[in-house]
Amino acid sequence: MQSPALQNLISSIIEDIAQKGYAVVEQFINPQEITSLAAQAKILHITGEMHKAKTGISKLENSTLRGDFIHWIDASNASESETFYLNTMAELQHAINQAFFLGLFELESHFAIYPPGAGYQKHLDQFIGKEERKISCILYLNEGWHHEDGGQLRMYLDKKDENRFIDISPQAGTLVVFLSSDFLHEVLPATRERISLTGWFRTRSLS
Ligand code: OGA
Ligand code: MN
Repeated sequence: MQSPALQNLISSIIEDIAQKGYAVVEQFINPQEITSLAAQAKILHITGEMHKAKTGISKLENSTLRGDFIHWIDASNASESETFYLNTMAELQHAINQAFFLGLFELESHFAIYPPGAGYQKHLDQFIGKEERKISCILYLNEGWHHEDGGQLRMYLDKKDENRFIDISPQAGTLVVFLSSDFLHEVLPATRERISLTGWFRTRSLS
């Protein structure tokens, strides 16, 4: 059952997506769950269960393009805090489907750790010929993030004008949601380790 607070956050996400194509909300997930998700990501990193992320359909490791380490969430073998995250995202998926008839049927998601200095160059989350990713969602897991730590998500609001962008700090509990086909974005390098949980709501693959 949804808490009234979650219901309100989800309503404001739906409204913003309808108006602007993206939404940014703070404290989407409570601090205790964020702490345990961050702890889990750190353990996965230390135990070697995070691997260097690859880019695009070429599946090449390319540290200049993207310097993060990732670990895919396995829904059939999820921890307590992963289950909490997945259940919360399922509520969001349901609300998005009701509002926009997108026919989203699953979330694929991974933890990501960017070591200090690492970033992810400007890109789109949809690859040509692979359009199943409809909505991108990024949940940040960094407690006490300060502006001067860097690591902002730079979201370009106009594909044709690179001067129109907003910068979002990867503060613990903040969730960014956007239409995967519409927004170029990049991760600016940070001076400290930067942890996130990124997910994509997908439609059924045609192939
Ligand atoms: C991605 C991505 C942004 C972020 O993983 O595709 O753009 O802020 N992540 O972590
Ligand atoms: Mn991206």
